[in-house]
Order: sequence, then C-alpha cells, then structure tokens
Amino acid sequence: MHASRSFKPLFSLPDGLHYLNCAYMAPLSRRVAAAGHAALDRLVAPSRVPASDFFDPCDEVRARFARLVNVTDPQRIALIPSVSYGMATVARNTPVTAGGNLVVVEGQFPSNVHVWRRLATERRAELRSVPAPGTDGGRARGWNEAVLAAIDERTAVVSVPPFHWTDGSRFDLEAIGGRARDRGAAFVVDGTQAVGAVPFDCGRTAPDALVCAGYKWLTGPYSVGVAYFGPVFDGGVPLEENWITRRGSDDFARLATGRDEYRPGAVRYDVGERSNFVLLPMLGAALAQVLEWSPAAVETHTRALTDGAAEALRTLGCGIEEDGWRAPHILGVRLPAGLDPAALARELHQRNISVSVRGRGLRVAPHLYNDADDLAALVEVVRGSLD
Ligand SMILES: Cc1ncc(COP(=O)(O)O)c(C=O)c1O
Repeated sequence: MHASRSFKPLFSLPDGLHYLNCAYMAPLSRRVAAAGHAALDRLVAPSRVPASDFFDPCDEVRARFARLVNVTDPQRIALIPSVSYGMATVARNTPVTAGGNLVVVEGQFPSNVHVWRRLATERRAELRSVPAPGTDGGRARGWNEAVLAAIDERTAVVSVPPFHWTDGSRFDLEAIGGRARDRGAAFVVDGTQAVGAVPFDCGRTAPDALVCAGYKWLTGPYSVGVAYFGPVFDGGVPLEENWITRRGSDDFARLATGRDEYRPGAVRYDVGERSNFVLLPMLGAALAQVLEWSPAAVETHTRALTDGAAEALRTLGCGIEEDGWRAPHILGVRLPAGLDPAALARELHQRNISVSVRGRGLRVAPHLYNDADDLAALVEVVRGSLD
C-alpha cells in the first residue's frame, strides 16, 4: 500500500460526510457493492448458478480469512451468520462443570456474554465478568491485570475481545491466552473489532476459537461472518445438521443416499445455506481487498489519525486511554464534565460527522477512507461545544 494514496475513491461515501464509525458498520466499497450487484443480476436466471457455486466461493472465503489470520488449513474456518451463532457453537462444544468458572470482560459485546451466562447457569458454574478499575490513568492496564487475576485453576473458558468495542481499551491476548492455557481453560476470542484493522496471527495468539462478524473491519456485508476453530473442536457437534457439510455432498446425484460423515476440520460448523449466493461473493471481495490493503497498513493509517486527534482532544480536557493500551482504530473519548453529550451529538449530526455517542463517551472509528480533515472536523465540534 502506498502511504500517500487516497482510498476515498474506492468508496462511495457522500461528499461532506465524515464517516468515523467503522466500528458500527463498514461502508461497502465500490468493489464489494459491485460483487453484490453482479450476484443479484445472476440470480434472475438460476441456470447461471452452477453446482460448483455451492462450494467454490465458500472455499475462497475460507482461504482468504485463513490467510488473514495466519491459519494454514482453510478447512479450519467455518461460515457463520453472526457472532452469537459462532459463540453458541463454541459453547456447545466446551466442557464446563459445576463449580467451574468462565471469565469475560465487563461490558463486552452481548453476543459474547449471554451465551456464557446461560452456560454458567446450566452447569452451575460462575460467570466472572471482570470490571474495569477506576477511571483514572492506567485504566486499561489495570483492567488487563484484573482479567489475568480472575483466571484460576477452576476456569473452564476465557472469552474476550482484543479491544473493547465501546472505547477501544486493549486486551493483551498473548498474556491472557497464555494464562488461560496454563490453567487448562478454553481461550475464545471475538475478533469482530480487530481482525482486518490490525494484524491478527492465530499462531501467536493461539485462540481455541476466533469468531468474527464480517460487516465491520472485514468490510463485508451484514449477516455473514467467519470463525476459526482449533483442533480441540475437531469431532464436535454442530448446532444444526445440514447436508452440505457432509463428505460427498458435492455429488448431487447421490444426495438422497448421502453419507453421515462430516467433512474434515470446522466445515461441520457452517450455518445452513452457507453458500449464500449474494453475501458470500461480497465477503470474498471484501477479504481480497483487506488482504491487498494489509491490516498493518490499516493500523498505521488509523493510528496516525487517532494519535493526532487524541493529542488535540486531551488538550481540551477529554479523557483518553494511554497510548499503549488503546486501539489504533477505535478512539474512546471521555467528555469533560462541562460538556453536554446530547448537545454535542446534535452538533455532530449537524456537521455530518458520524461517530457513536454513548453516555459521556464518544467512539471514533476511522478507516482508510478517512483523512486528517475528518478528525479535525470532529475536534472542532468538540472545541466549539466547550465555548
Ligand atoms: C465486538 C462485537 N462482537 C459482535 C458484534 C455483533 O454480534 P452479532 O454478529 O452476534 O450480531 C458486534 C457488533 O457491534 C461487536 O462490536
């Protein structure tokens, strides 16, 4: 990727819109939208959809995601509709016994909480939802220490994100995963707010499962995602029994007498009708473009933008996490006491600046299509709201 290149022309964002909200939803790039349009056009005459389209686009998505997260065997990637689906699969295949505990981070995305709460209740285990320490300096660092301290020899599952979705607090997955492994716990990662935006290496982080929605930093459409399942899940039980995940399912002439045996790896965990003829080509195009950009380049670009904004916002009295413990691409901004969040939200809307406003916090999530002007516009509105 070329540092000085503008990525805006690859997207169709309206002029004047400062879209700083990829953590909410990625805008469809021209390439991804074109893949969707082409897919729709083809479906008006299904004779244009060969039997191989039930399989090949799926394998392409598996291969691209596997490359993105440094997994050697693409068959370890399952196609899922949502994080909740992926997590339900993980929970179904993870042993938890009475008196054990499960560790999550307080306020992490609900699709990675409800499932564990129910499992804890069903198995008479304890759900440990680790809160952040006080709001002063070193909050994320202290939070990491608290997560590590919560993992003990009775821990059956540790399920955490690389970054907190609300404010970008960073979790040191190598340290947390290492502790989980030492204690014999399953290590599960919701990579939705990280994979695509920063390098993620399954070799180094070594999760047992990595679950990602596709419509944020993977820049794909809504309702299709991907999950890596490590060897501990080989031989597990999927949530549903579908035909296409069986060996020999590509022999349509013999489907009625099909075999029971699953295809190898994580393919058994694919959702029913996983060969979505519109969404999969879009996700395939999205993954191809993320690989071409490279997550390292996305990280460099977004870090430069959030570093600049963080400095300016700190001087205005906003609270920002220390640099080593915040996401490069998700800037959490705690508003100063004198600032009315509702009035600020109105002003941001007026000025066509899209960020998330939650309570006394702003979440600012730029991508390659953003530049310093977008962040300057935001800082200007915050400054103006203080007057
Ligand atoms: C960290 C994280 N995980 C998952 C999701 C979406 O979950 P699901 O695919 O179950 O709707 C979001 C959406 O904002 C998220 O931020």
